[in-house]
Amino acid sequence: MGDLRQLAALVALVLLAGCRQDMHNQPRFKPLAESDFYGDLRSARPPVEGTVARGELQADSYYATGMLAGTSTPGDYMPFPITRQVLDRGRERFDIYCAPCHSRLGDGNGIVPTRGFARKPPSFHIERLRKAPLGYFFDVMTHGFGMMPDYASQISAADRWAIVAYVRALQFSQNATRQEIPAGQAVPSPPPEFRGEPPNGGVLPELKPPTAAEERK
Ligand code: HEC
Repeated sequence: MGDLRQLAALVALVLLAGCRQDMHNQPRFKPLAESDFYGDLRSARPPVEGTVARGELQADSYYATGMLAGTSTPGDYMPFPITRQVLDRGRERFDIYCAPCHSRLGDGNGIVPTRGFARKPPSFHIERLRKAPLGYFFDVMTHGFGMMPDYASQISAADRWAIVAYVRALQFSQNATRQEIPAGQAVPSPPPEFRGEPPNGGVLPELKPPTAAEERK
């Protein structure tokens, strides 16, 4: 019996040792609570004027807007060089964010407008858009256009520029002249050959690897 009482005392001691309030009840504000301590009655203090969040410094206005400095005229150059990597990234982002409406070809025949979206987008291959400066496409993505929502919050500025570069590549792909086609390239290009079962929509199709002869082209 004595043993049991000792054990109970020990258990109580251990449990009570956890009961300290020392630093648990500190004066503090709930987020965005009112406070009469400050003149503006806000407990949340505004950041120091001129504070810029890390990675958000927009020192280059062209990079951030596509507009020539101090104007609302879109510029027609890339703020960084186009590499294979940039184009691949642009293609990937375009296929995710734009192709549902504009189609992978950019002709405006995406799936969304055929399923009730109020407006069919114009083709990127019409003359007006082929002549539109690069900054214009950046601006359309940044601020939206008519029925089209803006994509500034979903797509980073770097990725929006990558998409711009890819859109130009798409336009070129539909409008190249015969002289611009690499020697040996069949026109139209041969349809892709798939490995295994034909694609059924359930899994991504796997392309047959190019033959050594094709690789050299
Ligand atoms: C939800 C469907 C939808 C998506 C997604 C979409 N667009 Fe659009 N886009 C439209 C529609 C619709 C228009 C025509 C808007 C209008 O005229 O009111 C348009 C117009 C445009 C235009 C032409 C503007 C002009 O001067 O005629 C460009 C360029 C464009 N979109 C680029 C993009 C790019 C790049 C993306 C991907 C980041 C994208 N869009 C994603 C629906 C979409």
